[in-house]
Amino acid sequence: MKKIVLIGFMGAGKTTIARLLAEKTGLPLLDLDSLIVEEIGMSIQDYFDQFGEPAFREKETAVLMRLAAESETTGILSTGGGIVLGAANRQLLKQMDNVVYLKTDVEELINRLAADHENVRPLVLSKTAEEIKNIYLPRIPFYEESAGLVVDTTGKTPEEVAAEILEGVTLG
Ligand code: S3P
Repeated sequence: MKKIVLIGFMGAGKTTIARLLAEKTGLPLLDLDSLIVEEIGMSIQDYFDQFGEPAFREKETAVLMRLAAESETTGILSTGGGIVLGAANRQLLKQMDNVVYLKTDVEELINRLAADHENVRPLVLSKTAEEIKNIYLPRIPFYEESAGLVVDTTGKTPEEVAAEILEGVTLG
């Protein structure tokens, strides 16, 4: 898998920015969560309910491994916010080119997540702001160690973030 990989917490804008980057570069959009949904044949929420988070994490690793091994595949890959939880996933990300961490201030993340009524996220459902913070904060070092480039999205428009990413990556 070559080109650009976006990582970051839920609400960081990975999907929106990936769409924009795909439009700007003409590269195909790859969405890890959507690939998992295709494979499991149900929503992530239903999969969490029926099989639990560890089973979801196994699927997530399997799909990432497959993409990482496909050296001919090019595209803009948007990942799920928990991709960095597995040490094996972090190892894979470190070996991939142009892994970008979309870093966002925690207050802004919480506001964005509260305003997003389209995407049902099992880990955010009925959680307080404090609980969401407690999921996010321990992940920050994992995002930082997995990415080759960190882009702060706080207070920026998707256009501004996309432009910053395109300046910072190497599209061979
Ligand atoms: C998760 C993030 C979600 C999805 C799943 C778990 C997480 O993706 O993979 O609900 O652990 O942060 P988004 O970051 O695209 O919402």
